[in-house]
Amino acid sequence: MKLRGIADATALEGKKVLVRVDFNIELDDIQNVEEHFKLDIAKQTIDYLVDQKVEKVVMASHFGRPDGKRDEKFSLRPVADDVERALGRRVHFVDDCIGSAVTEALAALPAGEVLLLENLRFYAEEDANDGGFSKQLAAPFDIFVNEAFSVCHRAHASVVGVTEHIPSYAGFRLIEEVAHLERLQSNPVRPAVAVIGGAKIETKLPIIRTFEKIYDAVLVGGKIANEAIEQNIVFEDNVMLPQDFQGENKLDIGPMTSAAFGQIIAMAKTIIWNGPMGKFEEKPYDLGTKIVLHAIMENKEASVVIGGGESLAVVEHENAIDRVGFVSTGGGAMLDFLGGVTMPGLDVLKAK
Ligand code: 3PG
Repeated sequence: MKLRGIADATALEGKKVLVRVDFNIELDDIQNVEEHFKLDIAKQTIDYLVDQKVEKVVMASHFGRPDGKRDEKFSLRPVADDVERALGRRVHFVDDCIGSAVTEALAALPAGEVLLLENLRFYAEEDANDGGFSKQLAAPFDIFVNEAFSVCHRAHASVVGVTEHIPSYAGFRLIEEVAHLERLQSNPVRPAVAVIGGAKIETKLPIIRTFEKIYDAVLVGGKIANEAIEQNIVFEDNVMLPQDFQGENKLDIGPMTSAAFGQIIAMAKTIIWNGPMGKFEEKPYDLGTKIVLHAIMENKEASVVIGGGESLAVVEHENAIDRVGFVSTGGGAMLDFLGGVTMPGLDVLKAK
């Protein structure tokens, strides 16, 4: 898939640029940022824009699902300091994402510093891809850059609608992510293994179905494995469900299953992993997930893609971001992309 990249945009100098980022990350009980990966990956595109001497750089993101209403629990304000550290430049928080608050902050923004707008989803019009809202969002800007692969499966105003109003481009990381996932989907080096876990079998079943056709092994763990067993879902022979569990409540895969999954992962040349193998946030039910992660880390031969908020949390927790191959920002987006589902946010950025 060929996308219009920001590097192809000419004459960026003096332009006002809106960058769609995804800072939808975990905060702990006292609102400290727990995940830094999504903040760090925005840096390349922001630095590039500043180097190209654009006049203003502004970042917009969603945060959680506040149901189209302003709700301080879902404010991006607590994230701003960590964004500042991740980008290594001054970040000013704006209490709204449209209207006079934005235009006034833009006018006052010193060169080389950036704005972070308040949660886009405080407006129901964002999710509805409302035309008027998209226009208001785009109004103060000359150029739009999408640096949020993880929301490209959403036809939202800040992903799709905004592109109708100003020239729009894909950020560096977005392009890299699409290229990486495309390679693993269409032409994986074999043996190719997909490890799928987490909750909600209805969400994950399509991706298991896709990979049972194109990959050599699909290892299923986590709550979805229990759900699949309870619902008597029938799979092809290359799909492996757990043979044993940890504890009566089946909150993790058992030792036999972990060992079997580990062996298959060790021989793989391509590995995709999405979703934990058990209730990893509660010891000892984190063991199956950790065994899978370590098997992936030890396999130095394989091309690896890891995605999904929970898998990412485990990888960050184990300090393994730089040791596991490619980490996708996308949870649902990665699954949709790999499953061949249309991605509205990518469609609008396709090069002609
Ligand atoms: C994610 O965390 O996968 C993205 O930020 C998308 O969030 P959403 O599922 O609430 O749209």
